[in-house]
Amino acid sequence: MDLQGKNTVVTGAGRGIGAALAREFHARGANVVLADLAGAAETATSIGGDRVVGLVADVSSEDGNRRLIDEASAAFGPIDLFFANAGVGGGTTLADTDEDAWAAAFNINVHAHRWAAKYLLPDWIERGDGYFCSTASAAGVLAQIGSAPYTMTKRAAVAFAEYLSITYGDAGIKVTCLCPQGVNTEMLHGGDDPISGSNVVKAAADVLEPDDVAVEVADTIEAETFFVLPHPEVADYMQFKAADPDRWLGGMRKLQRRVAEG
Ligand SMILES: NC(=O)c1ccc[n+]([C@@H]2O[C@H](COP(=O)([O-])OP(=O)(O)OC[C@H]3O[C@@H](n4cnc5c(N)ncnc54)[C@H](O)[C@@H]3O)[C@@H](O)[C@H]2O)c1
Repeated sequence: MDLQGKNTVVTGAGRGIGAALAREFHARGANVVLADLAGAAETATSIGGDRVVGLVADVSSEDGNRRLIDEASAAFGPIDLFFANAGVGGGTTLADTDEDAWAAAFNINVHAHRWAAKYLLPDWIERGDGYFCSTASAAGVLAQIGSAPYTMTKRAAVAFAEYLSITYGDAGIKVTCLCPQGVNTEMLHGGDDPISGSNVVKAAADVLEPDDVAVEVADTIEAETFFVLPHPEVADYMQFKAADPDRWLGGMRKLQRRVAEG
């Protein structure tokens, strides 16, 4: 999809990867709605001009997604591309994760994607066009050491993106799924919802800058291909895992032991 003149929405765009995506889409000529619990208006102002607007939105409920889609459509017209990027990293082991953290992880990292898609798809199917993007994680194709909720919800996010592509690809719907390892944002460095085991992520791979990730995402959208793997070794790990799951699990257990030993 050529982003020039397209109406785009990015959730979790007050800061971090979402803010970088919004900046990059705007630079490529898109109209951009930034949505977040806080900070979206400030980030929109920093981008500047009349093709960008910031909205307060909470995507942790169906109604929050429905309202966001209504308000974003009112800003520039029918949405061409929706980026479900908002996410939370909280939660650790089965014993130490309370039910509120489980609910938040599933609502924001997974259900938000399907709630948004539910309200976007009727218009997109009618037009035979539409682009759904999501930020999952390398944890969604591999695993997150130390976090049951992050591992499960990011895997589910990848599964949902694949489902959309399989089910609606022939109707003209495009899907892209971003699966990075470490990216230099507050989530990695222990903000409100640090990814459990983020020290492992930092140690295991290069930590990339959000702006560089955003360029790769926008290039992938222009090419209309599915995965964005900004850390190329993730593709190798996926192949290794598929070829020999037991050996892959053994390697992950070794990493888990290293983390447990500190
Ligand atoms: N930083 C990393 O290393 C890394 C790696 C892989 C995947 N990710 C994923 O990237 C995405 C963006 O995270 P980030 O690294 O920029 O972290 P971040 O914490 O800087 O940004 C996340 C944003 O999501 C927003 N958000 C959280 N709950 C929300 C809700 N209910 N409604 C609306 N907005 C909400 C937050 O307010 C925040 O601005 C997340 O889905 C995260 O899981 C991050």
